Amino acid sequence: MTTVLVLNGPNLGMLGAREPEIYGSATLADVEAVCKQTAAGLGLEIDLRQTDDEAELIGWVHEAFERRLPVVLNPAAFTHYSYALRDALAMRTAPLVEVHLTNPAARESFRHVSVVAGVADGTVAGFGLQSYDLALRAIARLLAA
Ligand code: DQA
Repeated sequence: MTTVLVLNGPNLGMLGAREPEIYGSATLADVEAVCKQTAAGLGLEIDLRQTDDEAELIGWVHEAFERRLPVVLNPAAFTHYSYALRDALAMRTAPLVEVHLTNPAARESFRHVSVVAGVADGTVAGFGLQSYDLALRAIARLLAA
């Protein structure tokens, strides 16, 4: 069975407590539950991870490259400025879908740029927890294509 890495960047471990008026009350455990349920229906397995550390996240992207694993990635704030993360993702060997809970295009102007989007197959943003469901469905389509 194909494993999809579901990688989450800084502050996403604080979901539920973090700015609930923006991010809602769901926790990262809730994100994982949605991903597990969707993945099961698609015949996929997920390995969900979160880190606040850019180097650790890049290490996981290198692992995905080496193991040819598809990735659903919420880079959080790294989205907007981490060229190092983008360069790591550019090496990819399997589908990559960028995901966001909120719609960064509808928020502060510094969120309007994604340095990651150009190396992803596509981006799902603005649907809360369901963004992850849709991103996994996109991965399944890409794997089948
Ligand atoms: C986010 C959007 C980013 O701009 C922000 O820095 C985050 C979360 C989202 O999922 O909506 O941490 O990636």
